[in-house]
Amino acid sequence: MQTISQLSEIIEGELGKINYPKTPEKLYRPIEYVMDLGGKRMRPILLLMAHQLFDKNIEKAISPALGIEVFHNFTLLHDDIMDNAPIRRGQQTVHEKWDNNVAILSGDTMLVQAYKLLTDVDKSILKEVLAVFNKAATEVCEGQQWDMDFETEKQVSIADYLKMIEYKTAVLLAASLQVGAICGKASEHEQKHLYEFGKNMGIAFQLKDDLLDTFGNPDEFGKQVGGDIMANKKTYLYLKALEVADKVQKEFLQTYFSSNENMDEKVSAVKSIFTDLEIPALTTALMKQYHQSAMQHLDAIDSENKAPLITFSEKLMDRIS
Ligand code: IPE
Ligand code: IPE
Ligand code: MG
Ligand code: MG
Ligand code: MG
Repeated sequence: MQTISQLSEIIEGELGKINYPKTPEKLYRPIEYVMDLGGKRMRPILLLMAHQLFDKNIEKAISPALGIEVFHNFTLLHDDIMDNAPIRRGQQTVHEKWDNNVAILSGDTMLVQAYKLLTDVDKSILKEVLAVFNKAATEVCEGQQWDMDFETEKQVSIADYLKMIEYKTAVLLAASLQVGAICGKASEHEQKHLYEFGKNMGIAFQLKDDLLDTFGNPDEFGKQVGGDIMANKKTYLYLKALEVADKVQKEFLQTYFSSNENMDEKVSAVKSIFTDLEIPALTTALMKQYHQSAMQHLDAIDSENKAPLITFSEKLMDRIS
């Protein structure tokens, strides 16, 4: 069985072997740039960990693992345009370093590259792998559209938010685990529990991402802190704050979230209301609930090789970047 750091090294090494053509420069250099910025590589690591629950020889699962990482990076290029984000992994985003058109087209190329890698699996499982991936990829787009719709919608419920993050983030973690399980010849029952494990962990992961977006340390987070508040994102932090706020605080929050001026003042005022209402602790409590549900699904799987998955999911809950 491979440890988390061994799996991470394998992924990094294999990503490094991918050669992109020299020209057109503005198509391929941005791809190399974003892929070289690193990141946690958690989706391919999860895929390989799922695989080794059932089969220790992970070789055949490497290509789809790389495919899912390339797909994830493609979504980041487009997400950063949509979110008007200046920084990713501590560096300029692709649309800032080049421009929006470059980020769109490099992203498109990455989507094609992702499919090439993903479909490099045994013929006997190709259809199944594609079905799982296509469903998740479509749901990511649906989640991303809800995320943007909610920026200007007045009535967003916590249930709406949870569904949105399930789609934009959690299903890709879930699908990564399921694809790993399929490559490892797991049963349908095992696939289903791994999918649910990933889905619940993914929801906890996005809750933490939203928490860090406001309360993270700018030196460690690697993205612009306060970006969600600037973009009027209807995160759990905001929706829970509206629920527990008094009348005055609620009016302040709603006023700030309908204005796009004086960003520094807006971010610090909203952050201080969140702090007064103890939103970080409330968010962490919900995160823990989802993490626990994830663990119950892992309990339902019989394997001697679950330790890395358990450790990894705990590390994700404590992440700072
Ligand atoms: C960022 O994903 C997008 C979200 C779903 C929050 P990651 O936090 O996995 O980003 P990297 O790949 O580690 O940079
Ligand atoms: C992104 O959610 C989800 C996808 C990229 C599909 P966020 O917009 O919160 O991700 P970050 O914070 O920019 O990484
Ligand atoms: Mg986004
Ligand atoms: Mg974003
Ligand atoms: Mg975020």
